Amino acid sequence: MKIAFFDTKPYDVAAFAPLAERFGYGIKFFDNRLNADTAPMAAGYDAVCAFVGDTLDEPALKRLEEAQVKLIALRSAGYNNVDLKAAWGRIKVVRVPAYSPAAVAEHAAALLLCLNRKIHRAYIRTRDNNFSINGLMGFDLRGKTAGVVGTGRIGQLFIEICRGFGMEVLAYDPHPIPGADIRYVSLDELCAQADVLSLHCPLTPDTHHLIGRERLARVKPGLILLNTSRGGLIDTDALIEALKEDRVGGAGLDVYEEEEAYFFEDHSDRFVADDDLARLLSFPNVLITSHQGFFTREAMRAITDTTMENIRAFAQGEPLQNEICWQCANG
Ligand code: NAI
Repeated sequence: MKIAFFDTKPYDVAAFAPLAERFGYGIKFFDNRLNADTAPMAAGYDAVCAFVGDTLDEPALKRLEEAQVKLIALRSAGYNNVDLKAAWGRIKVVRVPAYSPAAVAEHAAALLLCLNRKIHRAYIRTRDNNFSINGLMGFDLRGKTAGVVGTGRIGQLFIEICRGFGMEVLAYDPHPIPGADIRYVSLDELCAQADVLSLHCPLTPDTHHLIGRERLARVKPGLILLNTSRGGLIDTDALIEALKEDRVGGAGLDVYEEEEAYFFEDHSDRFVADDDLARLLSFPNVLITSHQGFFTREAMRAITDTTMENIRAFAQGEPLQNEICWQCANG
């Protein structure tokens, strides 16, 4: 197998190069993101390895097919960046369904604690010898209500963490876990009752802008909103409005609707041309991390192992347990 690896970062090379060698596969690391323009670079490779910022739309898939690429190995769980319908019958797609749900759940908790107790602001202050605590007041999590949207692998772990803090937990999921010790309510009720609302569902046409103007109008004043799933779950303009009107008390965002243009890259020598992102960054009660929820040692190891195992199974003609496709149950 020859693998063309796109959107490479130093930590990818460190994780994937030794494993590819052990499998006896050739791997070429490209810095470029994979899209219709860069897909021809994969000519001569059997598989491409892609990440969340790569755009696998119809034109890109057509060019990959022309380049005789036979497999797209996503090193992510989410696959909203792949046009599965266009890929159907053309090129197989595999993914890493779960690497470390704990990594993402814990990152959501980190955003919550940091935002609520204003650690991000305190850190900057004390480094500047400013030891004032004015404006840094938070609230006790104990006894407050956490609203969890999506009770899959990550949502369930986030629930455990919230219970550890002594919080009440309510949840919404169109597919509740039968017999689970979780109190499910409607999404509208969840928004109305939650002091902290955390999103743990996939981005699909149904969930696009799940948290929009109408729902934000009905949240509990001072709500802390957490999104470690996908940016498109929140209508950014509506969130900015709610923040400006002080209806939302804080937003912890590991993902952003238009993150492809910025996240994972160093733009520190330029200004932010995206007005919504710039506006969000201007709020003291908005904490943005650059899609790093997954980024723990354990998760990277699991991503690498599963991706290489997916590629091996394909190379040896075995059933693809982690295949996603338009016509299969997965996807
Ligand atoms: P999962 O598949 O285990 O759980 C997703 C849950 O969402 C399921 O229970 C499903 O029934 C539910 N769901 C589907 N439609 C829904 C809707 N309309 N409203 C509420 N719930 C709905 O997925 P997992 O592993 O828990 O991951 C959740 C999301 O986290 C992924 O889709 C991905 O977008 C995101 N993620 C983010 C990472 C990061 O680094 N920030 C890393 C990994 C995943």
